[in-house]
Amino acid sequence: MGILLSPGPVPLLDEISQAQTKEMITHRSKAFTELYGDLVSRLKGYFNCEEAYVLTGSGALGLETLILNLCKKDDSVVCFPNGDFGNKQVLTVKVHSSAIVHEIEDGKGWNLERTKEAIDGSEADVLAMVYNETSLGVTNHIKEICTYAKSKGMLTIIDGISAWPGTKLDMKKFNVDAFVTGSQKGTAAPPGMALLGLSSDAVEKFSSRDYIPSYYADLRRHKKRFEKDKQTPNTPAVTLFWALQKAFDVIDRKGGLDSCISRHAETAAHVRERLVEMGLPIIAEPGFESNTVTGFICPKGILASDVKSKLDSEYGIKIVGARGAFKESGLRIAHMGNFKIEDIDTALDAIGKLTR
Ligand SMILES: Cc1ncc(COP(=O)(O)O)c(C=O)c1O
Repeated sequence: MGILLSPGPVPLLDEISQAQTKEMITHRSKAFTELYGDLVSRLKGYFNCEEAYVLTGSGALGLETLILNLCKKDDSVVCFPNGDFGNKQVLTVKVHSSAIVHEIEDGKGWNLERTKEAIDGSEADVLAMVYNETSLGVTNHIKEICTYAKSKGMLTIIDGISAWPGTKLDMKKFNVDAFVTGSQKGTAAPPGMALLGLSSDAVEKFSSRDYIPSYYADLRRHKKRFEKDKQTPNTPAVTLFWALQKAFDVIDRKGGLDSCISRHAETAAHVRERLVEMGLPIIAEPGFESNTVTGFICPKGILASDVKSKLDSEYGIKIVGARGAFKESGLRIAHMGNFKIEDIDTALDAIGKLTR
């Protein structure tokens, strides 16, 4: 046993692991209808959106599903990457549509002031960006950006894979048309499910298309089957769906989304305070710090990869390296899901010793 503080998959509570071991049911049973109906109705409430789906597959499948259903070949999509996952989102957009890409220095975040001119000048059909850039621990100001983009008639697609449920989201208030998160992050369920939320404008766009360039990920099929009997068009990972239901029970039992967000935000502030006290600067510029993962810079002369491997071999603590411009010098400590604050403090104590 050690301490796993990776930005997903995160450690599972026993009750969530054990939820997977029930007697199997088929996805064409009444029991499955009840299970999936419950997941979808809870997701619609959590996200505040028109329609929700759970796909069997990782977060990236969910993101690509949103893109291929909502971005036509001749649409233009304005993208604001600020790290590895933003760059991967651009590659995904380029497979299905055409991307107008704006860049910013690693560690910096996007806000309305920095995106407004590009939005005004682009005449794009869609805006796509990442909420929480996991590779550096930077959170973008999606509420202001999406609200502005929507006022210009764009559809907004947000990769919230590592943001939710540790960061605030209200799709209607934020003007987010399509949202995806991954089960293995703050939701603290096993990996293998993508949770999708869609606005009425997004539903209208994919429903009215004659051709969608995928069979499995064609949301028209998911919608049709759900409307028929609250089931999925193909065989889903039923065991994972049970675990997801239990993970939602845990979120609700611990006080719901507001208390989940506060727990993440307070822990993130605590982590930053301790790192700064130890002389380890935070990668994210002020005002864009993440609630769920903190990237920090090791002192000159100390290799981040050495700190990471000694943390594992000497203390049994697993964290991950930062990416991009901070690949050599940066590390990331995650505080997402049902983490224990004692584990985070133990990791910070060990980081302090190894970076002295
Ligand atoms: C912001 C973001 N986008 C996309 C992904 C890809 O998700 P997955 O590995 O579940 O496909 C990740 C994974 O860490 C992520 O953090």
